[in-house]
Amino acid sequence: MAARTALVTGGNRGIGQHVARVLATDGWDVLIGARDKQKGSSAAARLRKDTGGRLRGVELDVTSDASVESCARVLRDGAIKLDALVNNAGIYGRREVPLTIETNFFGPLRVTLGLLPLLRDGATITNVTSGLGELSNLDGERARFLADPALTRDALVAAMHDFVRGGGKGWGTDAYGVSKAALNALTRVLAAELAPRGIKVNATCPGWVRTDMGGRGAPRSVEQGAASVLWGVTAGVSGGVFRDGKRIAP
Ligand SMILES: NC(=O)c1ccc[n+]([C@@H]2O[C@H](COP(=O)([O-])OP(=O)(O)OC[C@H]3O[C@@H](n4cnc5c(N)ncnc54)[C@H](OP(=O)(O)O)[C@@H]3O)[C@@H](O)[C@H]2O)c1
Repeated sequence: MAARTALVTGGNRGIGQHVARVLATDGWDVLIGARDKQKGSSAAARLRKDTGGRLRGVELDVTSDASVESCARVLRDGAIKLDALVNNAGIYGRREVPLTIETNFFGPLRVTLGLLPLLRDGATITNVTSGLGELSNLDGERARFLADPALTRDALVAAMHDFVRGGGKGWGTDAYGVSKAALNALTRVLAAELAPRGIKVNATCPGWVRTDMGGRGAPRSVEQGAASVLWGVTAGVSGGVFRDGKRIAP
């Protein structure tokens, strides 16, 4: 069987890097998306050495339309089709409302739409979420809005623009929590949109993990966090939020 190909955003360190490592070890061709080209190439070289697998870096800043377009061009020029996209890149910045929403919510949306023509039918999209995005953390009205089965992508996008314009107030939790709650809702919406192509879209939570983001005191290892994320890469279901392969409350 021909090797399958995966792209991991923010794959140059942390959970994303370990996801890339496991996929390469399992025989996947892996593209390490990194906003800093050099960091992406270095991570790919490091993992090639460790795993003997096939990895390469690709420049990809999830906050930039131009960067996503140029990544899509690289894939097209190389006749590369994706079997899995892992939207892992994320930031945790309590005070940076616009950048947090841009990276954690609009990033996965931008990358998904930009690379959609390069995804094979039947591919998987895994959006890396957080328990901090649980609807129970949100103001009731906002939680009902996100949980509404009739929610559309346009309404969700408009709500995130409003949230940023409003300075990140009024949703009952911080920008990080809102970004991940909205990402969970986006996951459900995209799952329905992409079902005709057999593309499965799920959100997976790594738990609280010892990375630069999670800090040294976090209870879970990078291996455990990555395993929870990796479940989405071969998922047979679509539209849910999962941790360690078990469905959790959105
Ligand atoms: N660690 C936890 O406890 C935890 C818990 C729940 C969910 N998560 C989620 O898991 C994912 C990975 O987290 P982590 O702990 O591995 O974080 P991390 O160690 O801080 O790594 C974050 C990665 O995202 C990349 N990134 C940030 N902004 C980007 C952008 N605009 N374009 C492309 N890449 C960008 C970073 O690239 P640079 O090296 O260039 O900065 C880095 O590779 C995130 O989505 C996070 O929200 C983490």
